[in-house]
Amino acid sequence: MQEVPNLILIGPMGAGKSTIGRLLAAEMSRNFHDSDHEIQARCGADIPWIFDVEGEQGFRDRESSMIEELVARQGVVIATGGGAVLRDENRRLIREGGTVIYLFTTVEQQLKRTARDRNRPLLQRGDREQLLRDMFALRDPLYRATADMVVRTDRRGPRAVVNDIIRRVQR
Ligand code: S3P
Repeated sequence: MQEVPNLILIGPMGAGKSTIGRLLAAEMSRNFHDSDHEIQARCGADIPWIFDVEGEQGFRDRESSMIEELVARQGVVIATGGGAVLRDENRRLIREGGTVIYLFTTVEQQLKRTARDRNRPLLQRGDREQLLRDMFALRDPLYRATADMVVRTDRRGPRAVVNDIIRRVQR
């Protein structure tokens, strides 16, 4: 039987990975897995708690295990956390785990979409704009190196993005 590749969404906080992933999965009749949600469910605690108690390294270890587990599935849609591409091993697992879609957005859009956010510990550490700009500089090349395609999410709604992704993956 032929394997159905996973569709793996990568990209920064506020790019719409969870919203677009859920919609994409529904449109394609696939199962959807959100790495952050599954980490929280498994741990029985939210992400700020994990960062507080186990530190960022503790969270990244949980994230690496979750990525390894999720990419081993078949034909599912996976939304990763924004920092999933930081470790070499995660990038390898993601690249080999399916068709990888970089949901690109601008720092300006991220600022709007994360304005009242208290659930993302990395944005509570100083000036949000500077933090997002620094993360963009470090991570944008990593997202690009990992992805099979780049899809912009800053200029249109989730439904238009999903239609674009479906058109491109079915080509
Ligand atoms: C993080 C992004 C978050 C979450 C954690 C760390 C990051 O996921 O995994 O707060 O390093 O960019 P989202 O991209 O879904 O917000």
